[in-house]
Amino acid sequence: MIKLIKLLFLIGVFAAIAAAVPAFAPSLIWTPPELPEHMPDADTKRGKYVFQMAGCASCHTAKAKGAKPLAGGLQVKTEYGVFVVPNITPDKDTGIGRWTETDFIRAMTQGLSPDGRHYYPAFPYTSYTRMTLLDLRDMWAFLKTTKPVRNVVPLHQLKFPYDLRPGVGIWKVFFFSPGRFKPDASKSRQWNRGAYIVTGPAHCGECHTPRNFAGAVEKGRAMAGNAEGADGDVAPNITPHKKDGIGDWSKDDITLMLESGVVPSGDAVGGSMGHVIENSMSKLTSKDRLAIAIYLQSLKPIAGKPQKPKKPEKK
Ligand code: HEC
Ligand code: HEC
Repeated sequence: MIKLIKLLFLIGVFAAIAAAVPAFAPSLIWTPPELPEHMPDADTKRGKYVFQMAGCASCHTAKAKGAKPLAGGLQVKTEYGVFVVPNITPDKDTGIGRWTETDFIRAMTQGLSPDGRHYYPAFPYTSYTRMTLLDLRDMWAFLKTTKPVRNVVPLHQLKFPYDLRPGVGIWKVFFFSPGRFKPDASKSRQWNRGAYIVTGPAHCGECHTPRNFAGAVEKGRAMAGNAEGADGDVAPNITPHKKDGIGDWSKDDITLMLESGVVPSGDAVGGSMGHVIENSMSKLTSKDRLAIAIYLQSLKPIAGKPQKPKKPEKK
């Protein structure tokens, strides 16, 4: 009997190690990206622009009146439980004031904390990983100039087994492909700029692309809409499909909407898209908004409108 228990125990230990290896592999193989030799000094003004484009404040500033910028505390309710967004002000004890630039780049591009823990993809590093090192560096320099705020943020309240962080490591092995944006030399500069903004810092697909059973974006249906977007909003199909997407919008329709939130019918977008317009898109240059429009119009039109799922019947 004792022998059998020992054997079962050993099998358990081996299974745990086997599960832990892929969970930690990404943290073991990560080496800091090499900065190119002639990198200009970090530019905080440019960093602020990148920060706005990336919409960090939409999540890291709580919605309550008087909430301090970037001090965290926003509760994001998901099917996995509630995420509480952390404080990213330069406060030494409750924010990220003790972080180095390398710590920051690792978090943004690899989803790893300074001590090697995996971040949940509720933090959209799955898109930020496309960002250039220059943009990340400038953004870091800007973040360091923001006001430190002491604010202890409570822990996430996630359901079992999602509360086990090493599980995120296993998820990443299957669903996370880290790496900078690669420009397409056959396309124009403007198109490449738009592609970079949409798939990288502005992370449009995190809301507008449907997700699979494991909560990862379905690459084959990029921008085709998501019935269960942030805050339970339906994020529409924004591919150039004539009937189901925004195929009959002109470039001006798209840029005007990004600037003001007004869609061609005259209505204004609300919910999480309202924050995207207010915190980020309205702050961009018209050149960058045009680049986004050019890229969106070049996408493959995909049929299908996201439908709000029927509420499961109460048992
Ligand atoms: C959609 C919401 C969302 C957006 C947008 C977002 N974050 Fe976060 N961020 C989170 C969540 C949730 C976490 C916590 C992840 C975890 O605990 O695993 C987080 C964690 C972080 C952390 C780690 C903090 C720590 O104490 O370990 C940093 C740094 C960070 N975010 C920076 C940023 C920056 C910079 C931006 C903009 C470029 C940004 N985030 C945009 C939701 C968001
Ligand atoms: C945080 C989630 C989120 C992000 C990020 C986001 N969107 Fe949206 N978007 C939405 C939601 C939700 C709506 C629907 C809003 C409404 O109907 O009031 C919407 C609406 C739109 C519409 C209007 C479509 C229509 O048919 O009316 C366009 C165009 C659009 N988004 C483009 C973008 C682009 C481009 C980006 C990236 C720069 C982006 N969105 C990023 C959630 C998001």
